[in-house]
Amino acid sequence: MRKLAVFASGNGSNFQAIADSINQQTLNADLVLLVCDNPNAGVIERANKMGITTCVLSPKDFDNKAAYEQQVLQQLAQHQVDFIALAGYMRLIGSTLLTAYQGRIVNIHPSLLPDFKGKDAIEQALNAGAKRIGVTIHYVDEGMDTGDIIQQEGFAITGEETQAEIEQQVHRIEHRLYPQCLQALLN
Ligand code: GRF
Repeated sequence: MRKLAVFASGNGSNFQAIADSINQQTLNADLVLLVCDNPNAGVIERANKMGITTCVLSPKDFDNKAAYEQQVLQQLAQHQVDFIALAGYMRLIGSTLLTAYQGRIVNIHPSLLPDFKGKDAIEQALNAGAKRIGVTIHYVDEGMDTGDIIQQEGFAITGEETQAEIEQQVHRIEHRLYPQCLQALLN
């Protein structure tokens, strides 16, 4: 079974969906590590509740990005991680991790890429008057949300919906799509 690490910085609902899918055996993987760069993130509590090992490091405690990623890499090696899923990890992956995990890091982003990269993608889409909103799962490269697209799912909006309703719908898609996609990639 492939050993998976999830990287997250915040609430962790996607982390939860992945862990739940593993428990329900719809995703065959061993979730061996949560890597978190924010000591106050809700995702840490979720991992603790589920008995999943956490690696919580503050990048500001390191001299530079390479030193931080070197420490992360050491943890990944210790847990024999062979695949990484970013799920709300609010940091660009640097060359240290990219070189070690070439082609084995994926991300989920709440827009139909290449549109609306970066932060607050749903808000960006709404402000631009987008008629379709959606989710993209893609490989990670050195850019921000620029890697090769693996899977996308979108839905039409009328303009009548509230932002909260749209966010809910995006999350519903994410929580189904990400575990399904990981199952296909890992098995
Ligand atoms: C998700 O919308 C994901 O697409 C984006 O960050 C959000 C993370 O949400 N990259 P959560 O922390 O998994 O609830």
